[in-house]
Amino acid sequence: MVGAAFTGAMTPVALSTRSRTVRSSAIRDLLRLTERPDILSLAGGLPAPELLPVDRIAAATADVLAAEGPAALQYGPTEGIAALRATVADRLGNGTAPEGVVITTGSQQALDLVARVLLDPGDVVVVEQPTYLGALGALQWCAPTVVSIAGDHDGLRTDLLADRLAAGLRPKLVYVVTDFANPTGATLADSRRRHLAGLADQFGFVVVEDDPYGALRFRGTTAPPVRAFTERAVTLGTASKVISPGLRVGWLAAPDWLVRPIVVAKQATDLHTAVLNQHLVRALLADGAWFDAHVAALVESYSARAGVLVQALREACGEHFQLSPVDGGMFLWVRPRHPGLAAERLLATAIDAGVAFVPGSAFRHDAVDDGTMRLCFTTVDADGLHEAARRLGAAVGSMTTTV
Ligand SMILES: Cc1ncc(COP(=O)(O)O)c(C=O)c1O
Repeated sequence: MVGAAFTGAMTPVALSTRSRTVRSSAIRDLLRLTERPDILSLAGGLPAPELLPVDRIAAATADVLAAEGPAALQYGPTEGIAALRATVADRLGNGTAPEGVVITTGSQQALDLVARVLLDPGDVVVVEQPTYLGALGALQWCAPTVVSIAGDHDGLRTDLLADRLAAGLRPKLVYVVTDFANPTGATLADSRRRHLAGLADQFGFVVVEDDPYGALRFRGTTAPPVRAFTERAVTLGTASKVISPGLRVGWLAAPDWLVRPIVVAKQATDLHTAVLNQHLVRALLADGAWFDAHVAALVESYSARAGVLVQALREACGEHFQLSPVDGGMFLWVRPRHPGLAAERLLATAIDAGVAFVPGSAFRHDAVDDGTMRLCFTTVDADGLHEAARRLGAAVGSMTTTV
């Protein structure tokens, strides 16, 4: 296990039960470890720093302050500024009304808010196995019963979910990352989106479809969102992967009956998302020519880097690993070819060799180490990716010769 629970043993005042039982983020713990300059880290999930639009944001900041004046620095509505809600509704399409959109402090907050307004302790939540670590983290605070259902390269196995529902499972919420998922890179197939929507209507659960990576498509076409097929879906989105994660601007689109409780919960959490940042995101999304060119540049860079990493890994340690196809997003999912290759143990050896990744166990509710690994290819250049693959090959080589 990579994450650690707070024990509370050293605190002068006892922490709440939740605080003592919730695991800290394995990725955060790990990133701390991999800040050493000698380590090539494929562990983070960060956008390429050189592609963050510093100049465009500087110009937009000047424009927004000139146009909005003090209003851009004032308190704002909890739901988000009207202009950004309208822009997001427009981009989401499928009949989304601005009133159904809530601007959140990153999509992480959207996930937290949806969980908090829907879940009581013990309520059943279904997630794909493996799934986004931050979702497991957010859900934990509501103390639900988490049921993991296998996924494959087409996303959540909705046939297995249907079997479990037929056998009596009654989830309140099903969470999926629809496109180029974190951690597997899988995309939920069109037919499975329709199937999932039908199951939501039949069995009365909410589908939370999280889509931070959909715009980063290297090839193929985009399937319609689950929300196109059911009124029981909440769609999460974010500016983090296509503009800047530091701005902390995300959003959700929810059915009417969920919007009010979510807004009330958000009000108690942070009153509203930073107004200036909302204006900046709105300005950049509304500048279609700039935004499309910017996303195209991200796609070009990430798809080239993914290609380099796949090829370099094939050469350095292809006999040890199966590599999932990468059609978009930021991650390569790696499976061991031979049982018994523990990714957590490999990580310790790999860090000594100067390369880091995230073991698949971090993305599983049961934290089982099945030897899988998530490699992020966005922040290391081509030479670095070649070297990272070489170091990983050396690490796995030294492990397999010592077992
Ligand atoms: C699947 C998924 N959902 C949500 C988030 C949170 O993104 P943010 O809060 O920056 O919008 C991430 C970040 O890595 C993610 O991978």
